[in-house]
Amino acid sequence: MNDTRVALMTDAALIDPALIEALKTLVEPGKVLTDSASLDTYGKDWTKHYAPAPSAIVFPKTVEEVQAIVRWANQHRVALVPSGGRTGLSAAAVAAHGEVVVAFDYMNRILDFNATDRSVVCQPGVITEQLQNFAEENGLYYPVDFASAGSSQIGGNIGTNAGGIKVIRYGMTRNWVVGLKVVTGEGELLELNKDLAKNATGYDLRHLFIGAEGTLGFVVEATMRLERQPTNLTAMVLGTPDFESIMPVLHAFQSKMDLTAFEFFADNALGKILERGDIPAPFETRCAFYALLEFEAITEQRADEALATFEHCVEQGWVIDGVMSQSETQLRNLWRLREDLSETIAPFTPYKNDISVTVSKVPAFLAELEGIVSANYPDFEVLWYGHIGDGNLHLNILKPANLSKDEFFGKCATVNKWVFETVQKYNGSISAEHGVGMTKRDYLTYSRSPAEIAYMRAIKAAFDPNGIMNPGKIFA
Ligand code: MLT
Ligand code: ZN
Repeated sequence: MNDTRVALMTDAALIDPALIEALKTLVEPGKVLTDSASLDTYGKDWTKHYAPAPSAIVFPKTVEEVQAIVRWANQHRVALVPSGGRTGLSAAAVAAHGEVVVAFDYMNRILDFNATDRSVVCQPGVITEQLQNFAEENGLYYPVDFASAGSSQIGGNIGTNAGGIKVIRYGMTRNWVVGLKVVTGEGELLELNKDLAKNATGYDLRHLFIGAEGTLGFVVEATMRLERQPTNLTAMVLGTPDFESIMPVLHAFQSKMDLTAFEFFADNALGKILERGDIPAPFETRCAFYALLEFEAITEQRADEALATFEHCVEQGWVIDGVMSQSETQLRNLWRLREDLSETIAPFTPYKNDISVTVSKVPAFLAELEGIVSANYPDFEVLWYGHIGDGNLHLNILKPANLSKDEFFGKCATVNKWVFETVQKYNGSISAEHGVGMTKRDYLTYSRSPAEIAYMRAIKAAFDPNGIMNPGKIFA
């Protein structure tokens, strides 16, 4: 892979303008952009670690155009980077070395819907919210949800196997993909799994492309499964005196009902939200941490059970105060306390960790991690939040105003060693849902063995022998 990359045209200065002219003949007029504003916009995602520097942006409208672009890239050894909604948090969609960005904005249609199979055929540029709304209009539900649903695209979600806030009940994006059409790194079109619920015919290549971050090929069509709509979703926010009390609260509720979400955030994270002034506090008492849980209040009895469980948690000393939503508006406002965090802290240039362990290991893992973080980040503001019901913690370190971005990220990288060693010790993952991209690739060995990585490289070579598909992502 490294050797192949050396030979690639991944420096803007190396791309012959004649090649860009040839690229223009493969798509509709005006669908190749090289102006600096477009290069800047389409060359990056939500990470701020790398400066975007693509050579051109190409917007295919058909599968055949995608195939033509990939064949052109193979012929001329040009590196390609896929671009969806650019909401990624691992720099997997960043073009920092003169690559050509393939943006799927014009392949954004829902092509088919089958009410019997409860399936929807999407082009890769369909926005997550567009699919959620389409499902709702048809009396169904697309359950993968996260704060960036208004701009993230299905192709990108598949590329990172996006998770989000409902994983505890519905799982990750992978669970909802029943069929995929992909263009491999050689330009071949593959139709994977043919939307079947049952298919026992050997390797399921569909799953290799999910979470591959565009390193094997491009998703050009995806059939997504839908679910029945949930009934009367109801949220509770519960304040806890310490970290240790959160997991007993989870277990208390889970022993009584199926939860559709179990999130947490620290008090300083809540403080950032309240400073905005547009979202009401859940209640007056300030607590060290807050759990946000959600369930379907199918009957009045279910809501009563939730209240009784809340009271039990108070008696046990795990919960200090709490609130339960009584309307759609209250439900939305409680969710905003958690969902708006990422956007609210973005101006502080956070260093984001996205780590996970199995749920049973969370208490010991957290205790160890908290010790490392408080000893090693004494001057930095540290914000905890995440999907603790899935064992997924987001550890955000905020950049002090007096440090440059490079200095700050450098210091965080030093502490990473301790954080990731702890992740490894607990058999966890260095990236639960944001992906590896470029920001985590140097740490992959903390989660994957050398033998596993060698097999992953072999898979990459099988689908992308010339190493043109999103080089430098996942592996160095
Ligand atoms: C979230 O859980 O809010 C998202 O993964 C984004 C983030 O971690 O900031
Ligand atoms: Zn998250």
